[in-house]
Amino acid sequence: MPSKARIAVAIGCTAAVLLANTAFAQFRKNEDAVDYRQSAFTLMSNHMGRLAAMAKGEQPYDAEAAKQSARLIHVVSQLPWEAFVPGSDKDGARLKDDPWAKADEFRKLQERLAGETDKLVEASGDLDALRKQVGATGAACKACHDQFRKI
Ligand code: HEC
Repeated sequence: MPSKARIAVAIGCTAAVLLANTAFAQFRKNEDAVDYRQSAFTLMSNHMGRLAAMAKGEQPYDAEAAKQSARLIHVVSQLPWEAFVPGSDKDGARLKDDPWAKADEFRKLQERLAGETDKLVEASGDLDALRKQVGATGAACKACHDQFRKI
């Protein structure tokens, strides 16, 4: 085979492998999906903690830091859901109710959080607004945990 043709075949094969992988390879194993979503939740929780500390006056209010945390929570709160791969209910997962059987309820609670984190970004520029919105956001976290998360 002329070398150019050989290179073309090699490129073709590589592309085929890459395409085949993208269909199902966001997570190689269920365990990776569980790690991924728990990591996203851990980050959100850390930044909710920072905002809560400012809201309660345990830390001085810093508008820039508050805005950064709120933006981060808003972005990271979009990440966990694709990692609820069907069947990933073991490997360290801590699930109470079944997010796949109750997919509609689970999705509504995600949408509630998305709405609240949107408002959190807005509210982060003002301490009084932040106080209220940290509470409302925390309530959206809790509503889902009460049903779906095993403590
Ligand atoms: C739509 C449902 C839902 C919402 C909303 C939600 N969570 Fe969770 N959260 C879960 C589920 C389900 C788990 C358990 C995941 C698992 O173990 O596989 C979890 C787990 C966690 C964990 C434990 C992670 C670990 O390492 O085990 C933390 C911390 C957490 N969530 C924080 C938050 C915070 C903070 C918010 C709001 C900003 C939030 N969650 C909003 C469903 C939700």
